[in-house]
Amino acid sequence: MEEQTVVLVKPDGFEKKVVGQVIDRFERAGLALVGLKMIRLTQGVLDVWYAHHKDKPFFPELSKQMMSTPVVAMVLSGENAIEKVFAICGPTDPAEAAPGTIRKDFGVDKPHNVVHRSDSAEAAQKEIGLLFTPEELFS
Ligand code: CMP
Repeated sequence: MEEQTVVLVKPDGFEKKVVGQVIDRFERAGLALVGLKMIRLTQGVLDVWYAHHKDKPFFPELSKQMMSTPVVAMVLSGENAIEKVFAICGPTDPAEAAPGTIRKDFGVDKPHNVVHRSDSAEAAQKEIGLLFTPEELFS
């Protein structure tokens, strides 16, 4: 199934200067870039983006970290894009990720796991709507 999904290179990935390497991994897997921009997230966006984490103890620190530098946001499309991106990123905790995944290769711990990726098609649509206008997508 042709799908769209969102990836953010988070501040820890931005500061490590692995943006190009992250994008390269998705393109090598056959995924297409449909949208790409550098932005600074706001608390208002994060409150909606992470609505499911808002009551978690780590939410204030997560928000602070996500706003600490610009992030690189992209929309990727392709056959089973959500599953493919999940496999390329690895699980949330880099310690549990397999070698060759972005989070294992560049991540440190859960708060510093280099990338965000959409959990589901519904999450992807919500995230696209929060960060991109239709004119900014080229499919
Ligand atoms: P992300 O894919 O952006 O989705 C939610 C983020 O919260 C996750 O990546 C982690 O960076 C962060 N996160 C999840 N669980 C924890 C935790 N237990 N402690 C700190 N940060 C967490």
